[in-house]
Amino acid sequence: MQRPEQDAAWKALAAHRRAWSRLHLRALFAQDPARFQRYSLRLDDLLLDYSKNLISDETLRLLIQLAQACGVEQARAAMFQGEHLNCTEDRAVLHTALRAPADTKLSVDGQDVSADVQRVLARMSAFVEAVHSGRWRGYSDRPITDIVNIGIGGSDLGPAMVCQALAPYARPGLTAHFVSNVDPTHLSEVLARVDPQSTLFVVASKTFTTQETLANARAARDWLIQHARDEAAVARHFVAVSTHREAVTAFGIDPAQMFEFWDWVGGRYSLWSAIGLPIALYLGMERFRELLAGGHDMDRHFLTAPLERNMPVILALLGVWYIEFWDAHAHAVLPYDQRLARLPAYLQQLDMESNGKSVTRDGRRVRHGTGPILFGEPGTNGQHAFYQLIHQGTRLIPCDFLVAAQSHNPIADQHEILIANCLAQSEALMRGKTLAEARAELKAQGLSRAEIARLAPHRVFAGNRPSNTLLYRRLDPRTLGRIIALYEHKVFVQGVIWDINSFDQWGVELGKQLARVILPELKGQVAVGGHDASTVGLIEHCRALREAG
Ligand code: F6P
Repeated sequence: MQRPEQDAAWKALAAHRRAWSRLHLRALFAQDPARFQRYSLRLDDLLLDYSKNLISDETLRLLIQLAQACGVEQARAAMFQGEHLNCTEDRAVLHTALRAPADTKLSVDGQDVSADVQRVLARMSAFVEAVHSGRWRGYSDRPITDIVNIGIGGSDLGPAMVCQALAPYARPGLTAHFVSNVDPTHLSEVLARVDPQSTLFVVASKTFTTQETLANARAARDWLIQHARDEAAVARHFVAVSTHREAVTAFGIDPAQMFEFWDWVGGRYSLWSAIGLPIALYLGMERFRELLAGGHDMDRHFLTAPLERNMPVILALLGVWYIEFWDAHAHAVLPYDQRLARLPAYLQQLDMESNGKSVTRDGRRVRHGTGPILFGEPGTNGQHAFYQLIHQGTRLIPCDFLVAAQSHNPIADQHEILIANCLAQSEALMRGKTLAEARAELKAQGLSRAEIARLAPHRVFAGNRPSNTLLYRRLDPRTLGRIIALYEHKVFVQGVIWDINSFDQWGVELGKQLARVILPELKGQVAVGGHDASTVGLIEHCRALREAG
């Protein structure tokens, strides 16, 4: 395949970028009162306003041309049809099948994918009903009150983010907890809050080989047996979610208590599968199905909307525009929604594990940028922390703002204050403040000419800093499903344009391998060796500190 930077549209975008050095968004808004209408898209109540971006019709025309030249439409069709897009692991990429309607017909590699998905959903449904009705009970015949998900990465971040986001829809009487870190503090703190008699552990691991998850699961099992004084209690308190039946059995969980998913579901795309079991338990199956329906709404939009009216495509192209032609290295996700506090962390895995790559699909070194450093915090907290750099620093950091029109927890006018802050931030980033405006402000405050000259430069905002805003009625399961799928497809489109495999994650392997070597050295079971001087020095100092007590 031709490299993207060799494409005519790419070269035209580079030339077009140079023309942009004379343009300012403030002037473009002043010249064009219809800019918001032209550069915004809707999917029911979900509005994407991308008008505060450094774009014109020409920019978009060239970006769409680039998407077409890079085969975005063909790759999109291939993904939905189950082609093996994950070329290094020879796997299909079919998380969209998990949220497709029950009557969808889809077979992959001779396997009826739709039937498999519906079968597992039916099992999840029956299990959720058993727990909610109190038919499923703990070892001392108490109903379940606490769900503890033990998993990491894709087996944690999605369900944890969704459960927090949709807590207003939670079933009364059930609390969801998430243990991911191998740091024993994480598990200890959760175990201190739950009662072994009424706690259900969901051990979630696609591979069922992940060191952190297995260590936490073993410790949780020991804790349970210690309290129940009976190994048979494990069957009442442990279920597994995995693709790996043998490993689940070897761990000691009856495969009858395993909820299955498949290798065509990537870890970071798995919350729609049985990995979503804690979501279904916490919210109920109906709400989980609404989340799936939201994901499917976005799939349909992504599949059918023309590229220039296609939300994920537009978001992806804007990202490519800034990364490749504006030297943007980072991207901020700023939810003005306290319940989306974990969205940036979830999107970090989705985006950075997918597109943090530096070789093309056929193994050549890329000659362009790839995925950005993604970060964010809920508004308004971030405003009092890192926004300073976004407004006045030397780096261009495109931002996504997310905000609901209605709060689940209205108090006085606090939600309006929240929205006002959100809108003000994107306006401030776009408009900026000129030197003349800064001077005029200081003059109005009665400062001397000398003071004005000294202070005004510090109060200048360049403006022209891009952002998107996603505005929705309220954060409900369907809306959240749409938002998550929007970002999934954005990441996918960018991966296609950059010609990288967005569906593997070899970059996490080396550290895992080395940790396995260091562990016995740290324990003093084998001699320390074969490392650099820094690693040896750290191991030895750590051992000395531990031995000193
Ligand atoms: O961090 C690497 C990774 O493989 C992720 O892609 C995955 O989500 C996570 O580990 C957990 O893997 P598993 O679900 O197999 O335990």
